[in-house]
Amino acid sequence: MAVNKQTIFSGVAPSGTIHIGNYLGAIKNWVRLQDEYRSIFCIVDLHAITTPQDPEKLRKKIMEVAMIYLASGIDPEKSIIFIQSHVPAHTELGWILNTFTPLGELERMTQYKDKRQETSDKRHGVMAGLLNYPTLMAADILLYQTNKIPVGEDQLQHIELTRSLAERFNNRFGPTFTIPEALVDPVRSQSPKATADAPLAHRTSNGVEKSGARIMGLDDPIKKMSKSARNPENYIALLDSPDEIHKKIKIAVTDSGKEIIFDPKNKPAISNLLQIFGLFTDTATQELEKKYVGKNYAEFKKDLAEAVINGLKPIQEKYRELEKKPDAVIKILREGAESAQTISSKTIKAVKEKIGLIS
Ligand code: TYM
Repeated sequence: MAVNKQTIFSGVAPSGTIHIGNYLGAIKNWVRLQDEYRSIFCIVDLHAITTPQDPEKLRKKIMEVAMIYLASGIDPEKSIIFIQSHVPAHTELGWILNTFTPLGELERMTQYKDKRQETSDKRHGVMAGLLNYPTLMAADILLYQTNKIPVGEDQLQHIELTRSLAERFNNRFGPTFTIPEALVDPVRSQSPKATADAPLAHRTSNGVEKSGARIMGLDDPIKKMSKSARNPENYIALLDSPDEIHKKIKIAVTDSGKEIIFDPKNKPAISNLLQIFGLFTDTATQELEKKYVGKNYAEFKKDLAEAVINGLKPIQEKYRELEKKPDAVIKILREGAESAQTISSKTIKAVKEKIGLIS
């Protein structure tokens, strides 16, 4: 791995159902970027436990995410793949950053506000870990002197917080952290949200390189496709069977009218489907519009289902192979943790020294 390459860091939380939004918004881009960057991909298990998890299911989910990374084409020869909890520097720096983070900034986070409602326990209310989620995420990123963070658009607010924490720390204690930038789907910039919400799409001065993927729910194209959606018709899971994919796309919400055009404001549902189609087949949505002039939704949806099935087939096949070799997967994760440990230990040592701890 050449040292003069810039560093990317990203992760998926092993919770809920990993879906095509996670793939198109994040993992698919990582595969391409790993040739260009020093790449570090983490299974962020400590983030997953900020919402209640069943221990047995969590163990399985952690392995599932690791196998999805590998099956999607993340190559351990090119990239570091590891489990967050295997590298203690994440929690150490997370804690230290908490002591520099105003409560109000955490309370403002949209993801916190959404999840607070979903997970609030009647007896105990909201757990502190959920509020502190973004400081742990900042630690993940800053430990590796990350330059770019390839994520879906929903993570931009957390990345802005990461940037301001890093800037504040550097100002107070001297240069310590690289100031990272979000890298949001550098290929395409036509998501419904990106167009409807221009400030999100154009915040280049805040470290967002380009606007990008926000895949919306199939049952509700106004809300993002979500891992924790109660209705499985909201998402296409990466491991859904061809029959399930056909069925889910067939019943996906559509807009009024008949035209198949990319118009996120007036036709959010069909625009979302066009975006999914485009990303799976590497085709511009304008090309797809032309192809479907005069055709109806049923024809379009049938072809879309085929495109998704074909796009996921090699991933699913490789996944089934990996399932038979859990020891090989664990070995990759252990080796990844060693490499991650080597890099992150330098940062945590410097941080401790700067703030006056004796290391
Ligand atoms: P998570 O696990 O919710 O999602 C993983 C990745 O998938 C993207 N994503 C989407 N992209 C497009 N459309 C959607 N509907 C959609 N839903 C999810 C997310 O943007 C993300 O890139 N906080 C992070 C995990 C994390 C992390 C980090 C990421 C922890 N530490 C450090 C980057 C760097 C999260 O919950 O992602």
